Order: sequence, then C-alpha cells, then structure tokens
Amino acid sequence: MAEASIYDRILDPASRANPYPLYAELRKTPVRREADGTYVVSTYHEITALLHDPRVSSDPRSRPELGGAMPVPEEGPPGLPLAFINRDPPGHDQLRELAMRPFGPPCTPGRIEGMRPWLTEIATGLIDGFAGKHRVDIVDAFAYPLPVTAICRILGVPVEDQPRFHHWADAIIQTADPTTGTFAERMRRRERVNADLGQYLSGLADAHARRPGDDVISGLLTETGPHGPMSRKDLLSTGGLLLVAGHETTVNLITRGMLTLLRHPDVLDRLRREPGLITPLVEELLRYEPPVQMRTNRTTLADIDIAGTTIPKGSPLALMLAAGNRDPGRFPDPDRFDPERTDNAHLGFGSGIHYCFGAPLARTEAQVALPELARRLVNPRLVADPPPYRPSPELGGPRHLLVDFDTIAPAAERVARAASPGAST
Ligand code: HEM
Repeated sequence: MAEASIYDRILDPASRANPYPLYAELRKTPVRREADGTYVVSTYHEITALLHDPRVSSDPRSRPELGGAMPVPEEGPPGLPLAFINRDPPGHDQLRELAMRPFGPPCTPGRIEGMRPWLTEIATGLIDGFAGKHRVDIVDAFAYPLPVTAICRILGVPVEDQPRFHHWADAIIQTADPTTGTFAERMRRRERVNADLGQYLSGLADAHARRPGDDVISGLLTETGPHGPMSRKDLLSTGGLLLVAGHETTVNLITRGMLTLLRHPDVLDRLRREPGLITPLVEELLRYEPPVQMRTNRTTLADIDIAGTTIPKGSPLALMLAAGNRDPGRFPDPDRFDPERTDNAHLGFGSGIHYCFGAPLARTEAQVALPELARRLVNPRLVADPPPYRPSPELGGPRHLLVDFDTIAPAAERVARAASPGAST
C-alpha cells in the first residue's frame, strides 16, 4: 500500500489539534501533486497568486468529473442556484455587490458598528449565565450562541427558528469536508440540504415582503443594482450562504481565540489591562489559528505555471491558507503568537474577489467576545489541552472547550454604574 502523503495526514482527524508541523513539511514543496490529481499549495505568495488569478474558478461546474451534472444556476428547486461564494465573475461580482448593499459598508455603513452595544449585551448575558458554576463549555455556552444570534438578527430570522439552522449549517459545512466523500457526492448532499433551507428561506422572504423590516433579507428584496434587483432564487441562495458562513466560522474564531489566550496567560493578562490590544490580537488570531484552514473548492481553467510546476487545466486545488499564514518567507517567526505583530496581511479571510464578505462582522464579534471572557472569568484554566476537535480539516475548531474558573466578575457596565450611582441608565 502507498505511504500516506503529508496531505493525507493533514486530512486525518488525528492531526486536527496541531496540523502546523505538517504544514511546515508541506511548504518544503510549495506546489505538490497528490495521487488523485489535486494540487496542494502551501506557501503564502503562491496561494495569494492563485486566489487572485482569473484562471482559477470557484464554480463546482468547472470540475471535469462533474461533467455538467450540476443544475445551472437558473434552474429552480429542489436545489438553490449556486451562491456567490461558488460563482465566478461576472455573476459573482453582481451578486456580491447587491448583497453588500444592505449588509454594511459602504452602502449601510452603520449596521455592523451599530451592533457593538447589542453584541456586548448578548455576551454579558451569556456570561451572567455562568453564575454559580465553576466549569463551562465555552463552545456551547458562549462561542456558538453569540454569532448565531447575531447573524439571525441581521438577516431577520425569528429567534424561535434558530435551532433549525444549527442542523442545516452543520450539514452544509460537512459537505466542505474533503474526507466525507468525493466532490460530486458532497455537492449532491449539499443540494439536498439546500432544498430544505431554500424552502424555509422562501417562506421567510414572503413574510418580509409583506412586512419589511430593518434586516438584510428585507433589504435584498428591495435593493436594485445596475443590473436590476436580485432574483428571488438568488436571494434565497444568498440568505442561505450568509447564514451558514456566519455560523461556524466565528464560533471557531472565538473558541480558538480563548484556547490561544489560555495557552498564553501573559497575553490574557495584558488584554484585561489593555483593551486596545484586542484589535491587533484578533488579526494575529486569524493568522495564527485561522478557522478556515484551507479551501478545496478551486479548479484551474487553464494550464498555470507556478513555483516551477505546471498545474494542468481542470485540476482541483487545495489552497492551504493556514500553512501560508505560518510561512517564514512572509511572516518573521511565524510560529510565535504575537498580538503586536505589524504587517499582518494574513489569509484568515482569504484574498482576492472572494475575500470574506462578513469580515467586519466577524472582527466586531471577536473584539467584543474575547475581552468580555478575559475580564469576567476569574482564574480561568483549561480542563483538557488539546481539547476535542471537530473532524473537518477545512472549517473547524474545538468541538468543546471546557474551562474551569473560580467565579465571574461583575460586568463592566455594572461596575461603572456602581462607581457613579447618580449616572442615568
Ligand atoms: C471568523 C469568522 C470568519 C472567517 C475566518 C471567514 C473566512 C472566510 C474565508 C477564508 C473566505 C474566502 C472563501 C474563498 O475564498 O473561497 C470567506 C468568504 C466569505 N465569507 Fe467569511 N469568514 C468568517 C465570517 C463570516 C461571516 C460572519 C459571514 C457572514 C455574515 C461571512 C460571509 C462570507 C461570504 C458570503 C463569503 C464569500 C465571499 C465571496 O465569495 O465573494 N463570513 N470567509
């Protein structure tokens, strides 16, 4: 039997907690061909070049093995048309531009920043729920509910429907995991889940069309770009994409963030005293422990020469974002967690035309969540290091993060009020 390649070992769930030594091995050959024809790219400059290359497609229909078997975007249910993360220009650009209008800057500049007080309130309430306990699972009790509540509120999904998304988001994220079946099988599974999600979103869009609110779905129903409004089917795909993309990724940034802070108690301590540290700290987390470790959805549309290798047309790519983030050719001392790192153009949100659409929201959530945990958990300790991980090598992080603590400190706002009792509320 052939020996497992480094890439095979990275895909193995046993490597989930610490894939970084394997990434270092990979980088010795920046572009490496796997037995199945996948080209694994692991160095910063090569990954960036491919993310910006118009000869690289994000559309699953570019895969020769699918042979046009997937529905074209204009076809209707049971599946939804491809969302813009899986489309190439010009369709990608038109949909992204329309989706951006109600979501945030530059068309709706105040939406994300305006959520900061509300996000702080949610975080405070979740930590208040730890009262009387000495152990919590940061994932289930904090890192999951915060971003899910936020994305549902932004999109206008009623609170009581939130648990249904847990199931759909998990199922869709699993279809991005290259260890759970061939590409074609995973795309078929995704279509089935999308059918259920699409049906739900269709009912939601009808409700918002009858009574529009200050939410993104209502905005998508009314916004018009230079090419006209978004079609109803594209609107459902876009809503589904935002819900799923806004679910698991930020959960993992908060969880990986807390894990990293607990492994670096000096930084945790500084964060309590220096609130301004959080901005560069979140960027360093996105470099050092990125929730999206790799992207395996790209296909070459032409022969591409890179790093002395010709990647033939029609080849699947595995772009190893987390390996690029630790490339010593780009970042000095890359295995050091340094919250004061300057020149930190990490690949945590990707790069190029598909650069993360939700980056401002994800940053704001992490900037609110981590200082709250740092400030209020008194003497926090990791129960298990490493913690148990989710199986996906592509999108993921710890499944649980058990933390022991002595007690919780009062919320900052209450401390301020107690200090100046005359202040109005
Ligand atoms: C820490 C949290 C997050 C991380 C690490 C993250 C990471 C990424 C990455 C690496 C990409 C590039 C994908 C590619 O090139 O194929 C991406 C794209 C995207 N992200 Fe995020 N994301 C996060 C949060 C969010 C949130 C909260 C939302 C939604 C509100 C969101 C929506 C999107 C969308 C729609 C795209 C596709 C953009 C396009 O194709 O033009 N993300 N994200």
